[in-house]
Amino acid sequence: MIGILCAMREELEPILEKVDVEDIVEYGKNRFYLAKFNNKNLVLAYSKIGKVNSATTATIMIEKFKAKKILFSGVAGGIDEDLKIGDLIIATKTCQHDIDLTVFGYPYGFIPESSIYFECDNELNNIAKNVAKKLKLKIKEGIIASGDQFIHSKEKKEWIKKTFNASAIEMEGGAVGCVCFTLNIPFFMLRAISDTAEEGAGVDFDEFLEESSKVSANFLIQMLKDIK
Ligand code: ADE
Repeated sequence: MIGILCAMREELEPILEKVDVEDIVEYGKNRFYLAKFNNKNLVLAYSKIGKVNSATTATIMIEKFKAKKILFSGVAGGIDEDLKIGDLIIATKTCQHDIDLTVFGYPYGFIPESSIYFECDNELNNIAKNVAKKLKLKIKEGIIASGDQFIHSKEKKEWIKKTFNASAIEMEGGAVGCVCFTLNIPFFMLRAISDTAEEGAGVDFDEFLEESSKVSANFLIQMLKDIK
């Protein structure tokens, strides 16, 4: 069973259109779609925005629906200069930029007995890079930072870039990465850029959410053909 997770309805819908949904299970105030694609069993859901919602939904996919991998698809704010709206990025690792225990001497993003970064699965990232090559699409690999804030400030964005060496920002990856690390489940994070996280990002996000969600969804569907 492969878990396909999004944060928002707009991110999941273009994926649902391409798979054969066989059953829908309502659980934990959420809707889980059981589907087939290319002879593979999938469980799909959108968690609602944020770290707690995405961690909850990822845990349910793994524990209740027995997902053996989690693939996330959605949109992100671009941090790196070379990331334009509509561009694709996969995470090498994810982190939580809003964790602050610095008063106790810890670095930003660090929780004792845990870690700042959660690694994404190398094998899945290699499949993504091969698919991009085959389709002649550009895909970037970099650190993706998450927090329960929609970033729309150049100053904050620069701080996140400097502190975490992050290339993109969103609101779920660090949490899902933590769940997958904890439960020993391979994790893949794919995002298409919807805005550049500066002043005016809210307007861009509203304008490009659907379009960029489709870019990410279409890529994920292509990738699914090559995943065991
Ligand atoms: N997801 C897409 N754009 C974002 C932003 N600017 N901040 C946080 N999450 C996002």
